[in-house]
Amino acid sequence: MYKKLESIVNLKSKKVLLKLDLNLSFLKNGQVDPENTFRIESSLKTIKYLISKKSKTVIISYIGRPDGKYDAKYKMDKVANVLSKYLNKKVKKLDSAMPKDISKDIEKMKEGEVILLENIRFYKEEMTNDNKMASDLAKLFDLYVNDAFSNAHREHMSACAITKYLPSYMGFRFDYEIKELNKVLNSKFKNAILIMGGAKADTKLPVISKLINKFDRVLLGGVIANNFLYSRGVNIGKSIFEVKLIDATRKMDSKKIIAPIDVVVSKNINEKSRSEIKDMQKLQNDDIILDIGPKTMKIYSDYIKRAKFILWNGPMGYFEIKKYRHATETMIKEIKKSKSLRYSGGGETVGLLNELKMKNTFDFISTGGGAMLEFLSGKKLPAITYLEKNKLK
Ligand code: 3PG
Repeated sequence: MYKKLESIVNLKSKKVLLKLDLNLSFLKNGQVDPENTFRIESSLKTIKYLISKKSKTVIISYIGRPDGKYDAKYKMDKVANVLSKYLNKKVKKLDSAMPKDISKDIEKMKEGEVILLENIRFYKEEMTNDNKMASDLAKLFDLYVNDAFSNAHREHMSACAITKYLPSYMGFRFDYEIKELNKVLNSKFKNAILIMGGAKADTKLPVISKLINKFDRVLLGGVIANNFLYSRGVNIGKSIFEVKLIDATRKMDSKKIIAPIDVVVSKNINEKSRSEIKDMQKLQNDDIILDIGPKTMKIYSDYIKRAKFILWNGPMGYFEIKKYRHATETMIKEIKKSKSLRYSGGGETVGLLNELKMKNTFDFISTGGGAMLEFLSGKKLPAITYLEKNKLK
């Protein structure tokens, strides 16, 4: 069992490295969407607790997938501003996360102060779960707290290797997510349906084969749907799909997996370009699928009506353009009417629910997309395993 934050007896003046997932969604111009603050809100309880106990809190987090390279559009400055507003106190942002660059600032910290480090994914050591960087970083701190459930499926340095060198604890939100998701993991539902769409097919596809045992039907939209359609030999025109995962998609296919029978297509991905509804067999080579069609929505609605448990992750269409949100919005309204237990999660999904002001449709919303799906598929998430192994005091 992992140790919990509330079990730490004395936090006063302790230098705490706090891992959070502040991976926010972006506006079209590449800037962080200030409305998409669910992950910040979910982290507040832990941050405020650390401040109230007079610890010196240093937050380690990331935005996007800069993949070990500096990229100005993924800097954490805007996140620091949003955090400062929420906490009603200045959160100082450092321009590095390298131990040698940040040590002096951490040394000078006062009790109750909060610092945010630069995007940890600017350093390849994060993705390689590097022990050297973890041990160098650990030397600057007394304790480590992980409150980033939504990143728990990645075996990354700031969630995993770091726990080898510091007494490590789980934060409030992370622990809450596990409790909520365990309720589902330990239940058997009749008429359980999984609705999957959105991007990040590389994360979502591998879990389908495990999740399929728990669900009666898997209803697809987005890039994942394209993968299944393509692997079934259907022409998807110029639509996006994961070429590398086509074999794997074919292997995991089953009668339980329902893909669209009609779709909304266009020749270009922009607001102005003309769109039309087409049956799946009628696509031309230059069509791009941008939403699911009304016949498909009718089939999905019938499943939703009968469901006793619904798990939804990822929009059905290209939701960044408003006219391709139609099916997703209709679907959320159908889910709201249903009498099932309703769970949802994931960055994009929550961002959309926020924007549509429909978060109250669900009984539980996870901060995690991939992490939630992997957890529910029964997989032990690396960050949890590392926290459990930690015996340092
Ligand atoms: C998420 O947004 O689901 C998490 O922050 C994980 O992001 P990743 O898929 O880029 O690792």
